[in-house]
Formats: sequence, C-alpha cells, structure tokens
Amino acid sequence: MKKMGKVLLVGAGPGAADLLTLRALEMLRAADAVVFDRLVSPEILDLAPPAARMIAVGKAPRCHTVPQERINEILLEQAREGLTVARLKGGDPLIFGRGSEEAAYLRAHGIDVEYAPGITAAQGAAATTGVPLTHRGLATGVRYVTGHRAHDARLDLDWQSLADENTTLVIYMGAANIAGIALELMRAGMPANLPVLAVASATTAREERLLSRLDRIGTEIAARPMAAPVLFVIGHVVSLCKDAALPLSLPAVMACE
Ligand SMILES: C[S@@+](CC[C@H](N)C(=O)[O-])C[C@H]1O[C@@H](n2cnc3c(N)ncnc32)[C@H](O)[C@@H]1O
Repeated sequence: MKKMGKVLLVGAGPGAADLLTLRALEMLRAADAVVFDRLVSPEILDLAPPAARMIAVGKAPRCHTVPQERINEILLEQAREGLTVARLKGGDPLIFGRGSEEAAYLRAHGIDVEYAPGITAAQGAAATTGVPLTHRGLATGVRYVTGHRAHDARLDLDWQSLADENTTLVIYMGAANIAGIALELMRAGMPANLPVLAVASATTAREERLLSRLDRIGTEIAARPMAAPVLFVIGHVVSLCKDAALPLSLPAVMACE
C-alpha cells in the first residue's frame, strides 16, 4: 500500500525572510511540495528546495483565485501521493489563516498535520513601528479583530465589547471597511481623538504607515489609499509610535508615569 504523505502548516510571518522561525525553515526545507498564499514573500519562497513542486493558491482581496474547497483538495491530493507538503501561509496559520479548517479537513481524510507558528502581522508591525500591543498604563490587553466577513456579509461585530479604551484593537482585513468600523467604535463610546495607526506591508521594503485618529482615519485613508495588505492598530499605545512628532492623545494615567 502506498505511504501517505503529511501536511505541514507553516507560518511564513509578515514578510521579511529573517522573521521566519527555525522550525518553519526546517519544515520548508523538508517539503516535496509547497502550497503557498499570495502574502508569502518571494524571498521566503526562494528558501524552498529547488526540486519542490511550487503551487500558488493566492487569494487577493475580493478575488479568490482558488476557492478554499479546492485548496483543501489540492493539499489532500499531494499528501495522498506520499509527499511532504508545506502549506505556507502569511503570518501565523492559526490567526485569520484558515489553518485549522484545512487541518480539520485533512485529519478527517486520515492525513497527519503538523504546525510551525509564524509571527503574525500585528507583531511584525509592532516591531517596525515601535507601537507596543500592550503597555503598562496604556493597554491591559489586545484583541485581533476581523474587519471583513466572508462573502462581504455585514460586519456585525459586538461594538460595545470592542469599545474599551484599555484594550488595543488590531483590525485585520479592514481596509475597505475602516471608515465604518471607526464610526461604530465612536458610536459605542470610543473617543474621536483615539490614535489609529495604519501599516501596510509591515516588515517589508514596501512598508508604509499612516498616523491618524478615529474620527479621521476613514477620510485620510480614502485620500491616500495604501496597497494591501494593511492592518490598523487602534488605541492609546499608538501614541508611542516612533513616527509621532508629538504625543497624540495620552490618557491621564500615562501622564502620571
Ligand atoms: C487573511 S489575513 C492573514 C493574517 C495572517 N495569518 C497573520 O497572522 O498575519 C490577511 C490580513 O492580514 C494583515 N496582514 C498580513 N500581512 C501583513 C503585513 N505584512 N502588513 C500589514 N498587514 C498585514 C492584513 O490586514 C491582511 O488583510
């Protein structure tokens, strides 16, 4: 009987090749086939073995080149050929990465799955901008939130629970909806002058930043669109951004420290 292969769900990190973990590199080097997303940088793809089959299944915003069902089938087909398959995803496979859906499908079909975590985009952006995700006196926690729902369904988030000034919000996939998100957060009680940082292509040579506030981010991003991928950091921690000429809006507790 033919030996089954396995699938390695590998986080490629936010872009810069030196942010790949050693485990991710080891798994990539062991791969007979690499199934990769659009967000995986060319420098990282170059680390795959020259003989590996390279299969692009990239998804652009609003343009799914390969539907998720087909991606699942491709992974299964490659593993059934007895190959070690590296499924390379931008950031971490388990943060807005559908890694767990792919793992469940593969395991249901008898395929072994292993993970290599990746540095998520929020952490990459924190490192390059100097904006911490938590900071004593500014944020007691952080929430990673989607700014987009499948099939462009209405973004019906629990705005009241998100409107907590002591918690940093990182909005993934929110470029198209940021004006509406900011409005909902202000309606739920967040201050209009709460700082917002938009970061595009964090950690890569193409990284761009826009420092703004909740009441202005919608118009400012419309006036100066940023190329995908973009994430938004919302909260008092943004006042620590190394780009900020002046502190943006420091809460009283910060002034005391
Ligand atoms: C489908 S999610 C994938 C997230 C990924 N699994 C992670 O852990 O970073 C895609 C979203 O991640 C964010 N993103 C990914 N890489 C990024 C980067 N280098 N710079 C800024 N945002 C990024 C953007 O919000 C983008 O719309």
